[in-house]
Amino acid sequence: MPIPSRVRIYEVGPRDGLQNEARPIPTAEKAEFIRLLVAAGLREIEATSFVSPKSVPQLADAAELLAMLPAVLADMRELRMPVLVPNMRGLERARGAGVTAIAVFTAASDEFTRRNIGMSVAESLDAFRPVLQAARAEGWWTRGYVSTAFGCPYTGRVDPARVVQVALALRELGVDEVCLGDTIGVGVPRQVRELTARHIAASIPLERLAYHFHDTRGTALANVVAGLEDGISCFDASTSGTGGCPYAPGAAGNLATEDLVYLLDAMGIQHGVRLEGVLTAGRFISGLLGRRVATKVGQAGGWDPTTGHPIGRS
Ligand code: HMG
Ligand code: MG
Repeated sequence: MPIPSRVRIYEVGPRDGLQNEARPIPTAEKAEFIRLLVAAGLREIEATSFVSPKSVPQLADAAELLAMLPAVLADMRELRMPVLVPNMRGLERARGAGVTAIAVFTAASDEFTRRNIGMSVAESLDAFRPVLQAARAEGWWTRGYVSTAFGCPYTGRVDPARVVQVALALRELGVDEVCLGDTIGVGVPRQVRELTARHIAASIPLERLAYHFHDTRGTALANVVAGLEDGISCFDASTSGTGGCPYAPGAAGNLATEDLVYLLDAMGIQHGVRLEGVLTAGRFISGLLGRRVATKVGQAGGWDPTTGHPIGRS
């Protein structure tokens, strides 16, 4: 399978990146972060979640945030801004906020799913049926996450056959895209290759499959390359490498968008995102969280092959 000439970068910084932050971040600052991401060329941005505010207090302002965006973004027509929705209550809240894209989320392990959304995997799929029906009736774009696809923080090894089974069940419910999550960042390229091969064998089209790598153990970029080499063309990333699920102990940040953009640029793969813009957004969000920029490319900058000089070093 040839490496795709163009990939989609699906930014999860405002949602996954912020959901685990304890200190409340003002809604207007979240809107400014999204403005900077859009200015960098990102066109798919998971903006927030319509989950229980008791589970994820940081994103309790989801409706307020979405209401603020038209004023800060010049043109939203070419943007896809999915939000996480766990149940019909979330669907109704999302509808009220005018969303046009949602992501439902389950996992390949029952224990994680119970801790995360209070249901077994089978129960979550039942709960998603009316949610996805309603979303489809509205003409919305839909994604289904399979978390713990590479390992579970509670029960360890995950059978890849189980991952495919859940992915197929989500496809049957009508999702446009299935996204396999390495929730706690334990995966390695060999697993990516096996998972991709099994999904191809199960007739899941490559262009309907995405990967979501957490970089807990530094394997995320290697995993991206393994995905690219098998023709995967959508990868999740979080600007400044923020992120982690409150119900996944030990989960560190997501793959950093700036690291992904650097890799894709250097490999000559198109994606439409400007590295310098991502670095600017990364400095903004790191400053807001009171942290120094910790990502590789955030620190070193990019590299101009014509002059040999760093680009946008912080
Ligand atoms: P529950 O307590 O089992 O359900 O929560 P419930 O129906 O009994 O509801 C409890 C309370 O929440 C009630 O309020 C409901 O009204 C309210 P009360 O009567 O106590 O005042 N409620 C809601 N409020 C607002 N919006 C809603 C909603 N639903 C119920 N949608 C529930 C079940 C699913 C709601 C809860 O467990 C939850 O919200 N979980 C979300 C957890 C979460 O967001 N985790 C992080 C995202 S997943 C992730 O990060 C992984 C990913 O990045 C991929 C990867 O890395 O692998 C995607
Ligand atoms: Mg995640």
